[in-house]
Amino acid sequence: MIGRLNHVAIAVRDIAKAAAVYRDTLGAEVSAATAQPEHGVTTVFITLPNTKIELLEPYGEGSPIAKFLERNPDGGIHHLCYEVDDIRAARDALKGQGARVLGDGEPKTGAHGKPVLFLHPKDFCGTLVELEQA
Ligand code: CO
Repeated sequence: MIGRLNHVAIAVRDIAKAAAVYRDTLGAEVSAATAQPEHGVTTVFITLPNTKIELLEPYGEGSPIAKFLERNPDGGIHHLCYEVDDIRAARDALKGQGARVLGDGEPKTGAHGKPVLFLHPKDFCGTLVELEQA
């Protein structure tokens, strides 16, 4: 069902500092920071030869990553994003196997402008999983 690893998301308190680590220390190709008010985060994308890293910094009040950063003050891996061909078909198949889809279960437009869904970490080895329609 799942295809390519689209990105690994890392939540951080200071996205400029984190972007500098990837750009200057690790020598990666790093995008400009983009505020995404509708998602409550600011994002930076790092393009690697085989996948991407998504840096996430809280944006505004009630950011969905605020609690994660309280538990992980140094930052940490927040979720993995896998590509699927048909997000609704994938959702229905996963729900049929007892997996929990977060929110109202309807795909939302994600940070890349494509439909995404999140799956409960307790059903996926303790890891928050994002599905993105490729
Ligand atoms: Co993501």
